[in-house]
Amino acid sequence: MMNTTTITNLNNNIDQQVSLCGWVYKNRSSGKVLFIVLRDGTGLCQCIVEKGKVPDEIFEQLKHLSQESSLSITGTVRKEPRSPGGHELAVTDAQIIHPATDYPITLKAHGIDFLLKHRHLHLRSQMQWCLGRVRHTVIDAIRRFFNDNGFTLIDTPIFTTIAGEEVGSLFEVDYFDEPIHLTQTGQLYLESAAMAYGKVYCFGPTFRAEKSKTRRHLTEFWMVEPEIAFIDLPGLLETAENFVSFIVKETLDKNRSELETLGADIEALEKISPPFYRLTYSDSVDILTSDKAKDFLAAQLADFQQERANCESKIAELENQQNQQGLKQWKKDKIAVELIELRASIGELDTKIENNPKHAELAANFQWGKDLGGSDETIISMMHDKPVFITHYPAKAKAFYMKTDRSNDRVVENFDMLAPKGFGEIIGGSMREDSYDILIDKIKAQNLTPDTYSWYLDLRKYGSVPHGGFGLGVERTVAWITGQKHIRQCIAFPRMMDKVYI
Ligand code: 4AD
Repeated sequence: MMNTTTITNLNNNIDQQVSLCGWVYKNRSSGKVLFIVLRDGTGLCQCIVEKGKVPDEIFEQLKHLSQESSLSITGTVRKEPRSPGGHELAVTDAQIIHPATDYPITLKAHGIDFLLKHRHLHLRSQMQWCLGRVRHTVIDAIRRFFNDNGFTLIDTPIFTTIAGEEVGSLFEVDYFDEPIHLTQTGQLYLESAAMAYGKVYCFGPTFRAEKSKTRRHLTEFWMVEPEIAFIDLPGLLETAENFVSFIVKETLDKNRSELETLGADIEALEKISPPFYRLTYSDSVDILTSDKAKDFLAAQLADFQQERANCESKIAELENQQNQQGLKQWKKDKIAVELIELRASIGELDTKIENNPKHAELAANFQWGKDLGGSDETIISMMHDKPVFITHYPAKAKAFYMKTDRSNDRVVENFDMLAPKGFGEIIGGSMREDSYDILIDKIKAQNLTPDTYSWYLDLRKYGSVPHGGFGLGVERTVAWITGQKHIRQCIAFPRMMDKVYI
């Protein structure tokens, strides 16, 4: 019987006859030999079809088979280090399952709007496939870290009646004529579960009506939130740094080749281990207003300008090549892709060059008491090569549930974790206010109604204990690890303010 296998298993079948089922990723002919790159969902494999080694009619069918046609293909497995995946198939037979015609996503470059509208097909591309694999590992690592460390999974509701984060980012839904909303965080429910189980976590989709079109915001994203009873702020930071280091290590162990394909900074990821940097909010304000930050931003501006000049000269060189006579079609396509990418880079650099002085001014004039903005976080994270914790933000800038620091009531015992090299915040967390009286005051100070929070206040009436937790955004974590500019690439079907295509 024919041995049907998958590309990922070819290493166990060297010199054997196998069949693979998949889709045509690329198909090139050099007269008597066809080079079909097959993808089967587990990887890519180059299949060599030599005229005379397969029946003639099969050779003819394969020769005209276009991108994304499905087929089953049989041949002998050979080791070939130069081939994607390290193997080749010397084809002896094939059966076409379904020929695809005019697949809309060609191997030429397409604009992002086109690709988002075709996400149902774009998931098959190498980049999206690699991102999906890394995301899978990140999610598996998240679950394993908590399951192996004594946490109990609690599924918190998606329909909720109380707000955990900014009231302005609630999605309202009509719940049998009662206006309620979609969850922004499972945290408040999780706090009650922590009083039942000690260490708990929830993991699911989270909704925020963010009127923000930045590269870091989705309206639907996945967040994992642990919550721990009898812990303090240093203990929370330690948990968070061990957790993030574990996730990064798992992706390096399981997805090195995907990370390489995506162009991730593997050397930088290999350095991710505890301890991470620790700054207070006040330290961060000192950094933002210092000459060091000013010099850093000036050097960065010079780098952007240099990079822009390099892109310009590369474009001129490619345009020159494009005009040469007798250029092969594949070379023309390659140049066209490179030109689109270079022009997109120039657009991005222009935005950075325009924003740099504005961000420098915002940083230089930063006043203690304001929340750190995206550009402030970017500057601090740019200045570090490992993740940074920023702790003890001003109470006025933060959510009502964060615990007031008993030694300085202007600040709360909270933290954000910023991923390095400009990526920015991936975790937000805090100790929770565990005093009934202080919590009531905080709820009132933020113009919220204590009655709505009565069950949450009960937790402070019956055996209140110090407790805290945090939330990590999956898409931002995947984007940081893989080096993606925009988090929309890191979820299969992204939801953004102005984009809900399919
Ligand atoms: O800092 P946030 O708002 O914290 C909370 O929701 C807390 N209740 C968590 C807790 O303590 N249990 O959000 C946590 C993380 C952010 O650091 C970010 O990674 C992600 O959730 N996040 C978003 N990701 C994508 N799009 C958005 N609009 C996001 N908003 C937050």
